[in-house]
Amino acid sequence: MRIAMIGTGYVGLVSGACFSEFGYHVTCVDKDERKIAALLAGKMPIYEPGLEDLVANNVRGGRLEFTTDLAGPVSGADAVFIAVGTPTDRRGEGYADLTYVFAAAEEVAQHLRDYTVVVTKSTVPVGTGRKVHKIISEKAPRADFDVASNPEFLREGAAINDFMRPDRVVVGAETDRARAVLRDLYRPLFLNETPILMSGLETAELTKYAANAFLATKITFINEIADLCEATGADVQEVARGIGLDGRIGKKFLHAGPGYGGSCFPKDTLALVAQGKDANAPQRIVETVVAVNDERKVQMANRIVAACDGSVRGKTIAVLGLTFKPNTDDMREAPSLDIVPALQKNGATVRAFDPEGMAEAKKHAELAGTVFCDNAYDTMQGADAIVILTEWNEFRSLDLARAKSLLRTPVLIDLRNIYRPEDVVAAGFSYTSVGRRPASPPKRPRSVSAVG
Ligand code: UDX
Repeated sequence: MRIAMIGTGYVGLVSGACFSEFGYHVTCVDKDERKIAALLAGKMPIYEPGLEDLVANNVRGGRLEFTTDLAGPVSGADAVFIAVGTPTDRRGEGYADLTYVFAAAEEVAQHLRDYTVVVTKSTVPVGTGRKVHKIISEKAPRADFDVASNPEFLREGAAINDFMRPDRVVVGAETDRARAVLRDLYRPLFLNETPILMSGLETAELTKYAANAFLATKITFINEIADLCEATGADVQEVARGIGLDGRIGKKFLHAGPGYGGSCFPKDTLALVAQGKDANAPQRIVETVVAVNDERKVQMANRIVAACDGSVRGKTIAVLGLTFKPNTDDMREAPSLDIVPALQKNGATVRAFDPEGMAEAKKHAELAGTVFCDNAYDTMQGADAIVILTEWNEFRSLDLARAKSLLRTPVLIDLRNIYRPEDVVAAGFSYTSVGRRPASPPKRPRSVSAVG
């Protein structure tokens, strides 16, 4: 089986490398010459645990290649995957910009030879598969091909495992021939009894949006419950466990925090809302989720200000974590991009550190004026508070005594709930977290008076 993977972004690169690990011959194609040159030199354009080794092994094994030239790989392929970006359209309204998908389809059309399945892997609005079919048919009327949809559900930081051990594989295809090719491609997963869901094109396309919108809703729901917990003295982690053990609800994606970010949820929720409007089937729940999540990031800055005795003017804030989640260097829609500027606007100096995201962070204009530090303790020099924005493992067991000695005032604002309130308070800190009761300071041993 031979695969051409068009686009070496997150999805394309991880999927291409994983398919080559299955034993297929994969050629990853990208127009970006610098990216391809770097990949040929063994340098990954993204930080993803395990990816570099996976790529190196399969390149060495002759199963994985990189090129800027689409012609050869497409004409020899059984399946061509389109995995190019679908960013939010710059004109607003949330529509996905399909320019790159359609351009790729036109180019692919020119090089199809024997029967080929052209598979959209990019997240594309309902109806895109049919448009791709039309573009190829018009450009190459005699081409022997089918179009299929095979959305990905990879999480950054866990992408390889998600590809190799998925909960399910979703395939939208309209012919037995296309279904057979896709079923063959995923045959290595049959061993783990991975469900392969076969449907029509539209259903597969919509399944992807519905999955991401539902997960974004779940997070936003628990975030609002966290606010209610704070107002009423309940504990959101216990509430999450209490509802999560109900099999109908499920334990995952119930961690309250500063709001979701990343390359998918913000973009896909907006695109789903836009599709709902177009189809006259409004997606009011998801619309609200988008608005609540946007507001939450602003609220988080207010929470930090409140924890700093009501003002951060002239104060220094040590920010730990800038990426939208751990184990990635991705800064897209990260809560830090809203929270850090809001603190600076309120007169704070921000010192920040992220284990993998520093290079990306420095490219973001929103973070201009931030003092980028070498490590977690460096951020704390003379700071008035620590804020944990991303739950990187190395922030989970900070030496609190050392932190206290570096800070001007011992204040810890933990927006990921990675500390136990009683431990932090026992270390002499004032501690603010999300949706949990503030811990009371440790009780002094009572002096025992002699009762006579
Ligand atoms: C997501 C989907 O999970 C994946 O299936 C899809 O195909 C791509 O988008 P990703 O964006 O990599 O993956 O990260 P994910 O782990 O889903 O987290 C997204 C955001 O939600 C992060 O900002 C994270 O911090 C936040 N989140 C997640 C929470 O705030 N609470 C949770 O319980 C889970």
